[in-house]
Amino acid sequence: MKVVENQSLQGLNTFGVVAKTRYLTSLNGLDDLPQYAEWLSANDVPSLVLGGGSNLLFKNDFTGIVAKVDLAEKSLIDSDNDFYYVQAAGGENWHQFVRWTIDQGYAGLENLSLIPGTVGAAPIQNIGAYGVELVDVFESLQAFDLQTGEVREFSKEACQFAYRDSFFKSQAYGRYIILSVTFRLAKKTDWKLNYAGVKDQLEGEPTARAISDCIMAIRQSKLPDPAVIGNAGSFFKNPILDKSAWETLRAQNENLPGWEQPENTMKTSAAWLIDQAGWKGHREGDAGIYKNHALVLVNHANATGADLWGVAQQVIYSVQDKFGIELEPEPRVL
Ligand code: EPU
Repeated sequence: MKVVENQSLQGLNTFGVVAKTRYLTSLNGLDDLPQYAEWLSANDVPSLVLGGGSNLLFKNDFTGIVAKVDLAEKSLIDSDNDFYYVQAAGGENWHQFVRWTIDQGYAGLENLSLIPGTVGAAPIQNIGAYGVELVDVFESLQAFDLQTGEVREFSKEACQFAYRDSFFKSQAYGRYIILSVTFRLAKKTDWKLNYAGVKDQLEGEPTARAISDCIMAIRQSKLPDPAVIGNAGSFFKNPILDKSAWETLRAQNENLPGWEQPENTMKTSAAWLIDQAGWKGHREGDAGIYKNHALVLVNHANATGADLWGVAQQVIYSVQDKFGIELEPEPRVL
């Protein structure tokens, strides 16, 4: 494991903001993990484990060590009457992995096409799109515990998945490095086409490949490509309100979207609230809200993390003021 000092993070975050880290290393093999744990106990600095850098915003330089997970490998590890069990290493690119499963003839991940980031980052925030969440196809994961130096297996229950959340994003933030994830992909296909737009835009019979292609086209029409315009996907979580609070708000806003959730709650659309508050397409210098989707904070070229956070905060205040709802950022703001 090689540690280098004073490195730029600009190429390591999909916002493309200029920030530096005091130390940088890359974890290329399992042997690097105990070395990383030892390095951390010898040097008392914060640690940030990075996947694709697609779910964070650097407001400032990072004063600790950034470790980039470069573990690669994917294979079918088992199958039974009902399922294929497919395992992928934490550093695999998520979308390339999804397309690989489709090439192998396994279905189940197609709705999660084109989500930026890595396999190891996917469970941390329980990625989701178009009616499917990671939890729906998850079997187990293996993670390295930086505190004990041991490798631990996590079942679905142990991961405590929730909407864009898990044990790894809440209680255990920063403690584990996800080495590999095992997916349980059903042999009997059950296409999820009910999310707005998917059924209408699908051409021909549903297959994993056709759905993946369709979702890629929908995403490309709405969401900016981070290689062209810096962004981290949805910047805000969709708020979850008590049903009564949602009904009160709905009485004043007849088009307010709402999706039923467990325990008498409703999820509403952060994009709708931001759009209604007039922020879609807003730009201040190089920081702004994307013209085709109000949930996406964008760096048009040279915005700093502080510029982007400035726009995000104005959006939060404005939605709070207009609707009484406090939006929460989805990515980590560091
Ligand atoms: N809408 C607006 N204005 C906009 C965009 C959307 O009013 O500019 C309203 C519309 O009413 C639309 C509704 O918002 O029907 C929902 O929009 P969309 O289908 O684009 O989904 P979303 O709720 O905004 C979520 C995820 C996305 C995921 C899509 C599709 C979150 C925070 N975001 O967005 O995930 O791709 O659903 O399933 O849950 C991400 O997490 O980075 C991400 C892109």
